[in-house]
Amino acid sequence: MIRINENYLKLKASYLFADIARRVQAHQEAHPETEIIKLGIGDVTEPLPVACREAFHKAVDDLGCRESFHGYGPEQGYSFLRDAIAENDFQSRGADITADEIFVSDGSKCDSGNIQEIFAQDITIAVPDPVYPVYVDTNVMAGRTGSCVDGRYENLVYLESTPQNDYLPGLPEQSVDLIYLCFPNNPTGATATANQLQQWVDYARGNKAIILFDAAYESFIRDDSLPHSIYEIEGARETAIEFRSFSKNAGFTGTRCALTVVPKELMARDSNGVAQSVHALWSRRQSTKFNGVSYPVQKAAAAVYSKAGRREIAQLTDYYLGNARIIREKMTARGLTCAGGENSPYIWINTGGDSWEFFDLLLNKAGVVCTPGVGFGNCGQGHIRLSAFNKRESIAEALERISSVL
Ligand code: MLT
Repeated sequence: MIRINENYLKLKASYLFADIARRVQAHQEAHPETEIIKLGIGDVTEPLPVACREAFHKAVDDLGCRESFHGYGPEQGYSFLRDAIAENDFQSRGADITADEIFVSDGSKCDSGNIQEIFAQDITIAVPDPVYPVYVDTNVMAGRTGSCVDGRYENLVYLESTPQNDYLPGLPEQSVDLIYLCFPNNPTGATATANQLQQWVDYARGNKAIILFDAAYESFIRDDSLPHSIYEIEGARETAIEFRSFSKNAGFTGTRCALTVVPKELMARDSNGVAQSVHALWSRRQSTKFNGVSYPVQKAAAAVYSKAGRREIAQLTDYYLGNARIIREKMTARGLTCAGGENSPYIWINTGGDSWEFFDLLLNKAGVVCTPGVGFGNCGQGHIRLSAFNKRESIAEALERISSVL
């Protein structure tokens, strides 16, 4: 008799953004006249950069003739892209990462969800609260947690991000093995300084732990003093895996391309205490379960690093940051305390009331979709997240509508 993986029964009924989408659809069906403005899920609205589109078109044409046709590519990515990433994203910032430590993939969501497979079942895991739900859900599916009790899974260590600590979680008080961090943070928009990241790296070294560092929003950093990569921090090559994405900087949410960095020094122990290469394990996992990102998409991603591509990416991220600044200013003027929105496309707003009630208020009265903070964890209660990923006109309209109902 076929049976299910019962860990799935421990999950909340639906994924946060699927839940929101369903509520929005129901509202739209009941009120077809309302033009809903979506500032919920962080999905980009602006077109792909010209440099990427041109490279994309050319690569599709390459596939149209036998001499330049490409079938299966290398599972870990073409060297033209891995080389460009290593040089531009890491080496140029003093981070000693080589092309063969970069694994090109179809998304940071997939990679940050899949990576847990290569670690033991009985490790102790620390996650920030609030947190991107993928980190938690994938460990629930894998059976590393107990049940969800009052919004928190048993066996997870929650690191609280609150107004009191400026939404920067402190180090765990106990020894943990795997730590999920995200800076600039989703959902709070908080950023971490080099000194703060150094404390995490030192903690991980001291506890033989690994940090999973999600840097999907690094291209929104404008403060030159802030690190973009954890590998700018001493000791991180022995302690951290980093996830990056072309979704939010270059508009690839639909196109799909991302990367994961696993340094060769990074080790984890087997049950005999023997150090095993995490790079080798991830490579093994990917070559069995993944067949690489398509050639045209990788060509389009590589164009991000051309002169024209870099200029366009800066314009795109500046545009969304301009939206973020406007949201933050308007919400602050309404007397609400905001985090993020600087060096980050997300504005984390302390409404003081129930998150879902505020979500309903904005949807029903203003026709604006936000993300209820509690959907990211208990500490998100009393907050909502507004995303700056939308057209400037829609942002202005949404803010007017929100102002009129507050
Ligand atoms: C978000 O809104 O948190 C992100 O768009 C989710 C994602 O990138 O998967």
